[in-house]
Amino acid sequence: MLTLLTAMYLVVRSASTQAEPIRVVVTGAAGQIAYSLLYSIAKGDVFGKDQPIILVLLDIPPMLPVLDGVVMELQDCALPLLREVIPTDEVEVGFKDIDAAILVGSMPRKEGMERKDLLKANVAIFKTQGAALDKYAKKTVKVLVVGNPANTNCLIASKSAPSIPKENFSCLTRLDHNRASSQVAIRCGVSSDKVKNVIIWGNHSSTQYPDVHHAKVDLHGAEMGVYEAVKDEAWLRGDFISTVQLRGAAVIKSRKLSSAMSAAKAICDHMRDIWFGTKEGEFISMGVYAAGNSYGVPEDLIYSFPVQIKNKTWKIVDGLPINDFSRAKMDATAAELVEERDTALDFLSQ
Ligand SMILES: NC(=O)c1ccc[n+]([C@@H]2O[C@H](COP(=O)([O-])OP(=O)(O)OC[C@H]3O[C@@H](n4cnc5c(N)ncnc54)[C@H](O)[C@@H]3O)[C@@H](O)[C@H]2O)c1
Ligand SMILES: *[C@@H]1O[C@H](CO)[C@@H](O)[C@H](O)[C@H]1NC(C)=O
Ligand SMILES: *[C@@H]1O[C@H](CO)[C@@H](O)[C@H](O)[C@H]1NC(C)=O
Ligand SMILES: *[C@@H]1O[C@H](CO)[C@@H](O)[C@H](O)[C@H]1NC(C)=O
Repeated sequence: MLTLLTAMYLVVRSASTQAEPIRVVVTGAAGQIAYSLLYSIAKGDVFGKDQPIILVLLDIPPMLPVLDGVVMELQDCALPLLREVIPTDEVEVGFKDIDAAILVGSMPRKEGMERKDLLKANVAIFKTQGAALDKYAKKTVKVLVVGNPANTNCLIASKSAPSIPKENFSCLTRLDHNRASSQVAIRCGVSSDKVKNVIIWGNHSSTQYPDVHHAKVDLHGAEMGVYEAVKDEAWLRGDFISTVQLRGAAVIKSRKLSSAMSAAKAICDHMRDIWFGTKEGEFISMGVYAAGNSYGVPEDLIYSFPVQIKNKTWKIVDGLPINDFSRAKMDATAAELVEERDTALDFLSQ
């Protein structure tokens, strides 16, 4: 009897050599970014081709009927890695035992809404979600904030989850990073993978500073600095920067909807790099807690820096030389974030 049980156990084990499923929550799961994002996650683009997944979809009560449709479509994709899909409007359910949380949902700006009221509404959302992560998620959870204002929402969520390390919170500036890489690649007539180490500094807004002073292009086998490859300083200091800064608005103007496909792709890039690390000798941009940075950025902020990731731990790339042109732009975007943080912290303490 015992041998039979052992044999059965071994059969079951060898049939399921796959890892235990991980639990991933996406908030704003009925929205347009999530619609592009969920498929990529569920088919293994982010956490690996052999990592089973339980997807938790969190949205607000009026969106539950829409979520049902999303659940149906995910089932209809017949994806082998997708073990379970759980739609919910409750944070207690949404954040339970979560390994990775992608916070896409936030309060959108409505007609005639004051900036302060918008911030206040978002502080309330990210306070609630941070507290729920603190209470229900795994302590090793990786939290990525996408919903705007992403940097400050991320800071509020982190402050509301004191038992989860601050390092486990980050916000998305990878879309800006990808936009900058692509602009340089198009200019040089190479594919985007030939461009590395662009940097987005600061807030995910039009004051962000896309910096290519440390970036490299592989120009038909010869690696060189971007300034050297592009040979057009006026463009690099002018239209290149403003194109990246204003890209979100340009997409909205043209599509009448904000970036969704490219945002979803950037979310996948960001989370996959957290999970598997960045390539040797390369860095990427993400909004992270600024404490201990070597660039004089105020400490208690979520600010976008160049980072390298290894063993699920990021490190800001320190000590890159910063010229006066860059300094002024890095300071301006920091000042914007400080102001927003101070207002948000007032709301948080109310
Ligand atoms: N950081 C970036 O690079 C970046 C890029 C693009 C978009 N964004 C931001 O991402 C967010 C989502 O964009 P979208 O196009 O998917 O918007 P969307 O309006 O299509 O979807 C947002 C979804 O979030 C839900 N939601 C709102 N409050 C919620 C809450 N408290 N809990 C759970 N769900 C909630 C809404 O019901 C909606 O289904 C926006 O804030 C947008 O500005 C950020
Ligand atoms: C910072 O960027 C976010 C995201 O674009 C934006 O909503 C916010 O208004 C910016 N902050 C300030 C103070 O301008
Ligand atoms: C990777 O991180 C884990 C958890 O923090 C730690 O236990 C382990 O020692 C680290 N491994 C390496 C090779 O740094
Ligand atoms: C998250 O926190 C854990 C400790 O709970 C740590 O080992 C890990 O490196 C952190 N992750 C990131 C991305 O910093």
